[in-house]
Amino acid sequence: MPSFVDSNALKISIIGAAGGIGQAMCLLLKAQLHTLIPNDANSDPKEMNMHIHMALYDVNNDAVRGVATDLSHIDTPVTLSSHSPNDAEGLRDCLIDTDLIVVPAGFPRKPGMTRDDLFIKNAEIISGLADNIAAYCDMSKIFILLISNPVNSLIPLMGQRLVHHHPSSDIERRIMGVTKLDIVRASTFLHQLSITDGIEKRTNNMPEIPVIGGHSGDTIIPLFSRAKIYPKLSRAQIKYLIHRVQTGGDEVVKAKNGQGSATLSMALAAHKVVMKFSSLLLGLRKSIHGIYYVSLWSHSKNQPICSDSNILIPLIDGCKYFAIPVYINKQGTYAIEYQIIEKMADFERSSLLPNSISKIKANIETGLAYSRQ
Ligand code: NAI
Repeated sequence: MPSFVDSNALKISIIGAAGGIGQAMCLLLKAQLHTLIPNDANSDPKEMNMHIHMALYDVNNDAVRGVATDLSHIDTPVTLSSHSPNDAEGLRDCLIDTDLIVVPAGFPRKPGMTRDDLFIKNAEIISGLADNIAAYCDMSKIFILLISNPVNSLIPLMGQRLVHHHPSSDIERRIMGVTKLDIVRASTFLHQLSITDGIEKRTNNMPEIPVIGGHSGDTIIPLFSRAKIYPKLSRAQIKYLIHRVQTGGDEVVKAKNGQGSATLSMALAAHKVVMKFSSLLLGLRKSIHGIYYVSLWSHSKNQPICSDSNILIPLIDGCKYFAIPVYINKQGTYAIEYQIIEKMADFERSSLLPNSISKIKANIETGLAYSRQ
C-alpha cells in the first residue's frame, strides 16, 4: 500500500490498531481528521502544508494490513500505512518521525476480571513499546495517549521506562492516560436519568461532568455536584449515578460475556481526544484543555511538572499521578486546574477522594515496582 508521509505531515501512530478499539477508532479518525484543517479561500491546505498521516501497527500481521487497506479506500485525504512484525522494521517505521502515539494495544478484560488483573500481561507490552519509543522517537516533542489498562499503573510504568532511557527528557509532561470514556459515560448516564426520572424535559444538550481520580472502579470520581441539575438530584440518584460510572466498564464486559470490553464507546472517546491533540499539533490551537491521567511530578528533573503541582499534590495526600483537568501546549502540561479539588462537594471530598487516592497510590507503586525490575 502506498504511503504519502512527508516531513510536514502530522503523523499519528496507532499501536494495537487491529483490535476492537483500534479498528473503530481508526475508522472515526480516517473519516474525520481532515475536517480539522481549515478549508477556506484564505487558508489553502496545500500552502499550509497540513496533511495528516495515520501509521497503523499491530502484532496481528494480516489483520492490520487488512484494516489499513480497507480504510485506505475511504474518500478522505488522510493517508495511511500499515506496519507489523512481519516487516523488517515494522515498529520502527511506524514510530519514526511521529508526533502522536495512541496506544490501544493489549489484553481487554473478561467477565470477573478487574483492570488490575491485566497488569502483568499488558505491562510487558507497554514496557517493550516504551523501549522502542525511546529508541526511535524524538523525546523532545512526541505526545503519547495511553488507552491500555490498567491506566493507573501503566502511565507511571511507561513514564519511568522512557525516563530511564532519556534521563534528562521532560517526556512525562506529554504522556496522558485516556480516561475520557468515564466522562462520556457520566454525561450519558446523567442525561438518561434526567429524562427517565422526569427531572428535565427531553433535550439534545448533553451535560458536561468532570470525572477525576483514576480509571478503575472506585478510583473513578465523577463530580455530579458540577451538574446544573445537581440541586434537583436526590441522594439516591447521585449514588446510583456514581456507581454506574464506576462500574460502566463492567456493564459492557458482562454484556459481551467473554468477547472483550468496551470498544465502540471507547473508540468514540479516544477519537474525541485525538482530534483535540491533532488540532494542537497542527498548530490550529496554541493550547488545549481536558482531563487526563497525568504525572504531576517530573521524575527526571525531580521537580513538579508545573508550579500548580505544588498546590495539587498536598491536596491529594501526596499522590503524584491523577486524572485532573490540565492545560496543554506543544511542550506538554503547563497548568493544572487544581481548584476543582477545592470546589468538590463535601461528600465527594470526604468519602470519594480519600478512597480513590489510597487505591491510586497502590496502583502507582505496582507500575513503578515493575519499571524497577
Ligand atoms: P483487543 O484485544 O480487541 O485489541 C488489542 C490489540 O492489541 C490486538 O489487535 C492485539 O493484536 C494488539 N496487540 C497486542 N500486543 C501488541 C503489541 N505488543 N504491539 C502492538 N499491538 C499489540 O482489545 P481492545 O478491546 O481493543 O482493548 C485494548 C486495551 O484497551 C485493553 O487493555 C483494554 O483493557 C483497554 N481499554 C481501555 C479503556 C479506557 O478507558 N482507557 C476502555 C476500554 C478498554
